Amino acid sequence: MTGAGHSRNGSAQSGTLYCVGLGPGDPELMTVKSARILSSAKIVAYFHKRGKRGNARTIADGMFKSDTLELPMEYPITTEAPVESAKYQNALTAFYDDKALDLANRLDKGHDIIVLCEGDPFFYGSFMHLYLRLRTTHNVKVVPGVTGMSGSWTNSGHPITYGDDVMSVLPGTLPEDLLVQRMGQCDAAVIMKIGRHMAKVRRALTTAGLVDRAIYVERGTMVDEIIMPLADKETDKAPYFSMILVPGQGRRL
Ligand SMILES: C[S@@+](CC[C@H](N)C(=O)[O-])C[C@H]1O[C@@H](n2cnc3c(N)ncnc32)[C@H](O)[C@@H]1O
Repeated sequence: MTGAGHSRNGSAQSGTLYCVGLGPGDPELMTVKSARILSSAKIVAYFHKRGKRGNARTIADGMFKSDTLELPMEYPITTEAPVESAKYQNALTAFYDDKALDLANRLDKGHDIIVLCEGDPFFYGSFMHLYLRLRTTHNVKVVPGVTGMSGSWTNSGHPITYGDDVMSVLPGTLPEDLLVQRMGQCDAAVIMKIGRHMAKVRRALTTAGLVDRAIYVERGTMVDEIIMPLADKETDKAPYFSMILVPGQGRRL
């Protein structure tokens, strides 16, 4: 892949920053476009937690050449401090500033860079923080992907919305009272970011009267996928890559 000509910051032969959505986990659910861009990558960057490779990097296994330069971007903090704390926000802001600067320097030398993103980049993706920092100064192209929730409801065998059903996507990180309130206002729901919020989410679903329809999905479409009715899940232990689906009950013709 060659550089994309003049960047918006005026430097000649600046490279292009691509972010490729990789789909929910099964590599075959990656788009042809993402796979094509990856196959000629010279530099691949990806986010990961300390001590872990990251789902995006795992999904992309074997999709780019072995001599591709890899740039792992390790989050400085994940669950050590509350998301709303100054400690968390300052650490993440400095992290994204630093990574955006590093990528900008490489782009300015004419290199193209591919950032890997699980699911769809513009749907709760970390890449969005780099995008906001670089989109006005550099060439940035984003390739959409099949979302985790789409892969998960398909593999669950339960269509998510019928007729006029209104679906809500709720982060499990919300306070319990807000979860209950929002669950009461929708016909179908997807609850993301379950992890250590599982017990709270289960209580909220019970209060909202949705628990009997809820389906638990862990690592949907990945090789170690687990899907079961939430009622059958005995513990409240859940990994970060899990979600709960509440299929709608709208018009069946
Ligand atoms: C930061 S969001 C990223 C969403 C991603 N960009 C997408 O399009 O699906 C991470 C959350 O997505 C959900 N998620 C994404 N893919 C999943 C999968 N394959 N199985 C279960 N949950 C998934 C989990 O709830 C996880 O906590």
